[in-house]
Amino acid sequence: MTLHFNILTLFPDMFPGPLGQSLSGKALERGDWSYNALNIRDFAQGVHKCVDDTPYGGGAGMVMRADIIEKALLSLNNPLVPSSPHPLIYLSPRGRPLTQARVQDLSRTPEITLLCGRYEGVDQRILDAYDFEEISIGDYVLSGGEPAALILMDACIRLLPGVMGNAETPSEESFADATGGLLEYPHYTRPDQWDAANGQTYSVPDILKSGDHAKIKAWRGEQSLALTKERRPDLLKNPA
Ligand code: ADE
Repeated sequence: MTLHFNILTLFPDMFPGPLGQSLSGKALERGDWSYNALNIRDFAQGVHKCVDDTPYGGGAGMVMRADIIEKALLSLNNPLVPSSPHPLIYLSPRGRPLTQARVQDLSRTPEITLLCGRYEGVDQRILDAYDFEEISIGDYVLSGGEPAALILMDACIRLLPGVMGNAETPSEESFADATGGLLEYPHYTRPDQWDAANGQTYSVPDILKSGDHAKIKAWRGEQSLALTKERRPDLLKNPA
């Protein structure tokens, strides 16, 4: 199973970025996934290659033009991937929040096209005409969709068969499955006593060195529950 990403962006050099490193980088070299980052500006006309214009109705910022984005979109024709239609995604803070369930579905499709906006966004008509799905990676505003696209890609790539090491191989996981429905308990490794530069000595909780696996399991469960109650009580209310 391979996964191909088309990325429509004004900054194609942002790809593969961090995804060229580590496990996703090795998977890219192996051909487990591939990408084609298209520069939207290459589809603009005139000496200035203008991709944006001022918004109708006034207001701050510039809006990326639908006709130019469409040219980039229609140039996509990957003979390796016979699947069409495939997911068309616009990364935007006003999209539906990205979930592990959506990531799981996306990682099973052969081809995904990602549109990254800059400025104030894109002309609404390109989203309407091609029925783009709008996805947000969280309730904060980035300066463009590219880092959000990289995050979505990372989440999909790690689910591809063979990308993760054995120990970490994700199964049919929802976010809740992956985390047991709770946030993860704290981890410790050597040294047992750590003299930090702040003058304090930090030790590993005794229970983790007791060798009593039942007690360790119970302790980790308590830690997970306490952390979740404190930081993400919503996960306890909606164990989806
Ligand atoms: N573009 C700008 N902010 C974003 C966000 N939070 N999620 C997805 N795309 C974005």
